[in-house]
Amino acid sequence: MRVVVGITGGIAAYKAVSVVRAFVLAGHSVQVVATDAALRFVGKPTLEAISRNPVYTELYEGVAEVRHVAIGQSADLIVVAPATANFIAQLAGGFAADLLGNTILASRAPLVIAPAMHTEMWQNAATQANIATLTGRGVTIVGPAVGQLTGSDAGPGRMSEPEDIVAAALAVVDSPGDLAGRRILVTAGGTREPLDPVRFIGNRSSGKQGVAIALAALARGAAVTLIGANLEIDVPDTISVQNVSTTAELAAAVSATAADAAVVIMAAAVADYRPESVAPSKIKKESQGDTLNLTLVKNPDILHDVSATKRADQLVVGFAAETETDPDTLLALGRAKIARKGCDFLVINSVGWTTGFATDGNDVRILNATGDIVGEASGSKRDVANRILDVLL
Ligand code: CTP
Repeated sequence: MRVVVGITGGIAAYKAVSVVRAFVLAGHSVQVVATDAALRFVGKPTLEAISRNPVYTELYEGVAEVRHVAIGQSADLIVVAPATANFIAQLAGGFAADLLGNTILASRAPLVIAPAMHTEMWQNAATQANIATLTGRGVTIVGPAVGQLTGSDAGPGRMSEPEDIVAAALAVVDSPGDLAGRRILVTAGGTREPLDPVRFIGNRSSGKQGVAIALAALARGAAVTLIGANLEIDVPDTISVQNVSTTAELAAAVSATAADAAVVIMAAAVADYRPESVAPSKIKKESQGDTLNLTLVKNPDILHDVSATKRADQLVVGFAAETETDPDTLLALGRAKIARKGCDFLVINSVGWTTGFATDGNDVRILNATGDIVGEASGSKRDVANRILDVLL
């Protein structure tokens, strides 16, 4: 996708570098259009190196290629971060005073802006009226967040975090709306079972794949309930997370929300066993010998239980992360697992010391209840998420 990143002149322009980088790393081609004022805050060489393209600023350069309209016409998405109060006023007024203004006016692509300014400027009636105008025209406004501003002051006006801006912008473009009106429950992360107040037994699931599914479903119009077990990644503020830690807490959260969901996706890695008893204070070496024996008792199998009690109009999806590397044996393990669990679909992937967990990519096969392969996907966790949702549809 061709993404134009517009940068206007505010101190948050230094964070625009991360916005550009996130789009490039996600495989998009990025054209930066910066205002003169933006380049007082962030260097052109930095933006050119990160975007891997020349950076354009001047209206009267590249005239022969009709650059002032060509960039906008060929864009699939325009994101302006940061968007200053002055830029927002110009945009609301439809001005084409510089290359960025021309680019936006000459484009039919979705427009996403991330305001950044001091609280007083954000709350000023003029700015709020301009924002209302832009919202009415279908412009997506991301943030601003509440937090520390440039000086010692804090409040609303801080630019949203780059990853939140990118997630919100991508949600605008890849939202076919084909999941509109459906509620999807997604569990993500890995449960932890405490041994004492400071220690736990856990697993290495970061929650990336589950969160990617939740965000992809949200982008496609679904109402999403995300239950996060010890997520090790930041979740954009476009989605709220119900946080849990142990398998028992996850089981309780799932059973409280599953009935309302059309689809339950159990992407969380669930601890199968928990310590029989949790020590009330830190277990001390002196009270143990050279070995420490733990007695673990079985946890409920949430996926099995939710599959056994589901309504006929609900779909339940499990995940199977296996260390088996032989594809045929992996498939056989998956077939045995879906038969045991009783779910409608099982997403199988291979994990190991260096693969699967906390990485940005994934490689999966999707089985139906009778063990047939009904989908395969590899690529970013977001791409894999969308493929899983395609199969469910
Ligand atoms: N799961 C669950 N409750 C459990 C264990 C697992 O709901 N107590 C779910 C996971 O969320 C996942 C699927 O079951 O969707 C498969 O998890 P996995 O750990 O691969 O399966 P297990 O039944 O634990 O089998 P194994 O012996 O391979 O660990």
